[in-house]
Amino acid sequence: MASTTHDSDKLRLGVNIDHVATIRNARGGRHPDPVRAALAAEEAGADGITAHLREDRRHITDDDMARIRAAISVPLNFEMAATDEMRRIALGVKPNACCLVPERRQEVTTEGGLAVAHEQRALAGFITDLRDAGIRISLFIDPEPREIEASASLGADIVELHTGPYCHAAVAGDPERVAHELRRLVDAARFAHEAGIEVHAGHGLGFETVGPVAAISQMRELNIGHFLIGEAVFVGLPAAIRSMREAMDTARHATKTAPLARTETAA
Ligand code: PXP
Repeated sequence: MASTTHDSDKLRLGVNIDHVATIRNARGGRHPDPVRAALAAEEAGADGITAHLREDRRHITDDDMARIRAAISVPLNFEMAATDEMRRIALGVKPNACCLVPERRQEVTTEGGLAVAHEQRALAGFITDLRDAGIRISLFIDPEPREIEASASLGADIVELHTGPYCHAAVAGDPERVAHELRRLVDAARFAHEAGIEVHAGHGLGFETVGPVAAISQMRELNIGHFLIGEAVFVGLPAAIRSMREAMDTARHATKTAPLARTETAA
């Protein structure tokens, strides 16, 4: 989720509530309602709400997005593909930020970052109306220098770094790949920050993986969904969010008190 302020060093937590809608849609009724989840997340300390209106509407629907916008007080981050249909809907919803993601119909979830360097010209035209409407532009990218350079030349407000490969390496128990993927995130965060872009990250994060990403000093926001909704089955959504907040704050605090913390030195 993207906030409207730049004034603090606090690491914000954006809660993605898509999979509450996935569960609802499994039966086609109204329960559980993602709006209720968004309000519960806000109450539990989420700094923003993220929802992805996919082209196939497999979870969040147009009506959900409008109701979430109307209900919440924290910023709304509208994740979407760069299509004319989504732009028209976003201009109607007026979220605080639009996070542009690549979308393939057959994918289980967003699989890679946006090819900003490759599609720079098309994206330049695409984002003008959104920006003119006062919506911040966030680009979900792989942690690659050329994607950051391209995002900077487009004037993106935010890059959201894809943490999927890092999380996959962690789940696979491959320490060398973990260190490599973490290094890419650390370097990309520094590079984007130096280019004047606000740095966010997300995808696949859970209690086991969030610490090193939260400890990256340039990081301003993490967007987390699937793990929190899954954890909510066991402990409830507010408790899951509070534990995530605590894990983020602990990692953040550890970097401040130990400047040579793991993420800054990982090879
Ligand atoms: N950020 C982006 C751009 C995403 O596409 C997603 C998944 O919808 C997330 C963050 C959240 O990922 P997860 O649900 O794995 O926490």
